[in-house]
Order: sequence, then C-alpha cells, then structure tokens
Amino acid sequence: MLIDTRQLTPNQRYAVVSHTLLPRPIAWILTRGAAGQLNLAPFSYFNAICSDPPLLMVSIGKKPDGSEKDTRVNIRERDAFVVHIARPDQLQALNDSAATLPAETSEVAQLGLATTAFGDFPLPRLADCPVAYACTCWEYHEIGPARQAIVYGEIRHIHLDDAIARYNSQGRLEVDSAALDPLARLGASEYARLGEIIHLPRPA
Ligand SMILES: Cc1cc2nc3c(=O)[nH]c(=O)nc-3n(C[C@H](O)[C@H](O)[C@H](O)COP(=O)(O)O)c2cc1C
Repeated sequence: MLIDTRQLTPNQRYAVVSHTLLPRPIAWILTRGAAGQLNLAPFSYFNAICSDPPLLMVSIGKKPDGSEKDTRVNIRERDAFVVHIARPDQLQALNDSAATLPAETSEVAQLGLATTAFGDFPLPRLADCPVAYACTCWEYHEIGPARQAIVYGEIRHIHLDDAIARYNSQGRLEVDSAALDPLARLGASEYARLGEIIHLPRPA
C-alpha cells in the first residue's frame, strides 16, 4: 500500500498517522484558567526535543466548534504548565479529562483528582503521577491552514516518584521504566502499556 498524503483530507491524514506512529507518550497537561481554575487534558502529539535548553513539544488543535482548546489559551496567556506521565490505573481519569468542556469548568475538580505543591512553581502537580515536568512556554507558534498550535515548553523542575528512581553508587540517576509503567497512546481509542523491555548497549 502506498498512500499519497496530498490525496487525503486532514482527518484521513490524522487517522493514518495516529494509527501507525506509535506508541506515543501522553502529556497529561495541567494549566490555570483565567478565573484561577485548574484545567487538565491529555495530548499525544508530544515528545522531548532538546536537552540544552531542556525542551518538550506539544501540538494542540482546536475544539470541534473551531474555538481554541483551553490548554493552548492558558499556556499562551499564563505561560506555566505542568506535564504529567500517567500510570495505567489513571487511564479512566485521563480519558475523561479529554471531554470538551467549557473553559471555566475544572477537570481537576470535576474528576476529584488530588494535587500537591510543585516546589515554588506557580502551579501544583497531580499528586499521584510518577513523573511531572514543571514547564514554562519557550516558544508558541501556529502552523498550517488549521492554525495548529505548537508549544515548546522549557522544563524547569522534574518530579520523580521515589519508587521509580534512585542515584547509583556513581551518583548517576537510574529510572526503573517497568516501575514507572507509563501509559501510552495508540490509534483511535486504544491505549497500551510497556511490553518486553530489551537491553542492548549502543555501539561506540
Ligand atoms: C490520549 C489522548 C491524546 C490526545 N492528544 C491530543 C493532541 O495531541 N492534540 C490535541 O489537540 N488534542 C488531543 N487530544 C484531545 C484533547 O485532549 C481534547 O480536545 C481536550 O478536550 C482538550 O482540552 P482543553 O480544551 O481543556 O485544552 C487527545 C485526547 C486523548 C484522549
């Protein structure tokens, strides 16, 4: 099968790419709305892109009615956001947080999710996620006719659950990926967990 993307509609392109470029990590993003409410939503067009500065990227579209998603408005207007990596036992809440709701509704409050202070960062983090990145907006721009928002976030602080990470005797940070047990996104309504973990050192 050979597919010419120029012959597809944007929805068809989304379908074929999102069903094949996988598994994708999921950024479960917490932001603050204009009235102070905590907004939460998942995004899987997401990855790490640079270590100096430490940047991640997330791509945010529009709501079905064409208005801007709350997350992109909040990041553009208030700068700070927190990206969480969720565990499989958080799948229901993560999926529920993707419902299109009015901007003034807090998914955090609605889903009854616990938060905790993130050091001196202006936003809290979800208390039960194994990993959280406190980010500020490094760059925001819009691309294509649909004006998709591309957000580059600078990671300022990282929370790691003590159960998944430790410093070894050489002072090097080791993360136990099996214990981290991250939730990943496949196509349509499919999610996945890590399968077999394969160790293979890189050649010099
Ligand atoms: C697992 C998952 C991944 C998603 N990834 C994206 C994404 O990368 N970009 C996007 O614009 N929407 C994505 N969505 C849809 C948003 O989560 C959804 O539109 C949400 O309502 C946005 O919330 P907000 O308006 O509070 O920002 C995803 C949904 C799910 C369930």
